[in-house]
Amino acid sequence: MNVHDDTALVTGACSGIGLAIAHRLAARGHSLILVSNREEPLARAAAALAAAHAVQVHTIVQDLAAEGAAEALVAAVDARGLQVDVLVNNAGVFFFGEAVDADPARARAMLQLHVTTPSLLCTLLGARMRARRRGRILLVSSISAWRPFPGISYYASSKAYLRSFAAALRSELAVYGVGVTCLAPGATATALYDPNVVPVAKARRLGVMMDAERVAEAGVQALLRGDAVCVPGLVTRAMATAAVLTPQPVIDWVRRRAPWLRPPRP
Ligand SMILES: NC(=O)c1ccc[n+]([C@@H]2O[C@H](COP(=O)([O-])OP(=O)(O)OC[C@H]3O[C@@H](n4cnc5c(N)ncnc54)[C@H](OP(=O)(O)O)[C@@H]3O)[C@@H](O)[C@H]2O)c1
Repeated sequence: MNVHDDTALVTGACSGIGLAIAHRLAARGHSLILVSNREEPLARAAAALAAAHAVQVHTIVQDLAAEGAAEALVAAVDARGLQVDVLVNNAGVFFFGEAVDADPARARAMLQLHVTTPSLLCTLLGARMRARRRGRILLVSSISAWRPFPGISYYASSKAYLRSFAAALRSELAVYGVGVTCLAPGATATALYDPNVVPVAKARRLGVMMDAERVAEAGVQALLRGDAVCVPGLVTRAMATAAVLTPQPVIDWVRRRAPWLRPPRP
């Protein structure tokens, strides 16, 4: 695939893995459409990307957790006369806690952001890629999708949906020359976590968390190769395998000892 002149739309592009993916796609010659819900950080990211790479950078401010977000985003893309050749569904949020303790508004926003919006973006933009017989889609899941995880049930289950959706979509679109890849990072040092709860900087120093740059590079390479799934890093791949093989009582034991996953006292 000749990436020059191809436009990549990246959601959640103003920080972390999304920003790092945008840098890597721009370095490979893609024009960019950056999407996020906050205007200032998005403008800053766009300026940095445009300065670092000789590509066009467009921005669209859109709350992707809002109802109708996918349709509104595609309308905004059309209004600018742009075409999306690469779709990166990356935007995400995270919270710890029992499912029954979740704030309904927060839980609904997560499901909209992780499930409804990316699925409908794949539907709306994937249909155009199918018609053109070319295009690539990256869905950012997580290794927490590899098994049920109590304590992060909303997060892990929504990521499991993305993993499954990516695999089915891949089969549907493969015959039309459209590639679909699922990126499943392990713990990555980004702003996803509240630093007051998770010691992100320390975890990064100790090598427990990966750099967003490494995760992004692995994801973009997998996307361009047309891989089905990318789990970046040897340790993360070992953890994904261990997660599948570990009996539930062991997961529950670990959870009782991890301060941020601890269930409330009965
Ligand atoms: N970090 C990890 O350990 C890890 C592991 C596995 C998977 N992932 C996944 O990787 C993806 C990127 O996360 P990250 O780690 O890079 O965290 P991050 O730095 O917090 O990036 C998340 C991005 O999503 C955007 N976003 C959040 N809510 C949004 C909304 N309602 N509408 C539009 N954009 C929104 C954020 O924009 P604002 O900052 O402007 O809100 C931000 O740009 C997520 O899907 C996450 O679940 C992360």
